[in-house]
Amino acid sequence: MSGGIEVVQGDITRQRVDAIVNAANPSLLGGGGVDGAIHRAAGLELLAECRTLGGCAVGEAKLTRGYRLPARWVIHTVGPIWHGGDRGEDAALARCHTASLALAVGAGARTVAFPAISTGVYGFPVPRAARIAVGAVNAFLARTDAIYRVTFVCHGPDTFRAFDDVVLTLDE
Ligand code: APR
Repeated sequence: MSGGIEVVQGDITRQRVDAIVNAANPSLLGGGGVDGAIHRAAGLELLAECRTLGGCAVGEAKLTRGYRLPARWVIHTVGPIWHGGDRGEDAALARCHTASLALAVGAGARTVAFPAISTGVYGFPVPRAARIAVGAVNAFLARTDAIYRVTFVCHGPDTFRAFDDVVLTLDE
């Protein structure tokens, strides 16, 4: 753990944290990947609440309850689709993290878990996403004591290594 950031390999739906972040799409009505896993684990009440939210723009975030998840809250954010890197993808990915943490603070959540947003179906290169995600979270944590711990929950070993490598550089 470095400056309140830790990296683990696992399933985000199992995390015992105050809030987990979902890598959603603008409809907020579910999908595959981590979005599908979160909806399956939380149950249909999550979808019902999502229907009331009117969707979500890329780089923004919306809050729901966690229902059957161990986490009390789900923060739904919409990552950018990778188009080669010169269409504002980096800034949008950073905004996802900042907006999600701002919602967490507003909800009183002190521990937050993120998946590797945009690195699955949306095609963002993992090492670059790791630099942006860890950088944005680290900058946010430097400005507040309201969040105690942020955990990046990586599904596979390559993603875990990429995020862990970036977090280790924070100590240097
Ligand atoms: N826990 C943690 N990480 C997971 C899990 C899980 N249970 N399941 C998948 N992942 C990982 C993927 O391996 C990938 O590293 O989450 C990361 C993000 O991948 P996606 O879920 O494909 O998300 P993203 O690339 O942001 O694409 C979003 O996918 O399902 C749709 O509705 C979603 O349309 C949206 C799109």
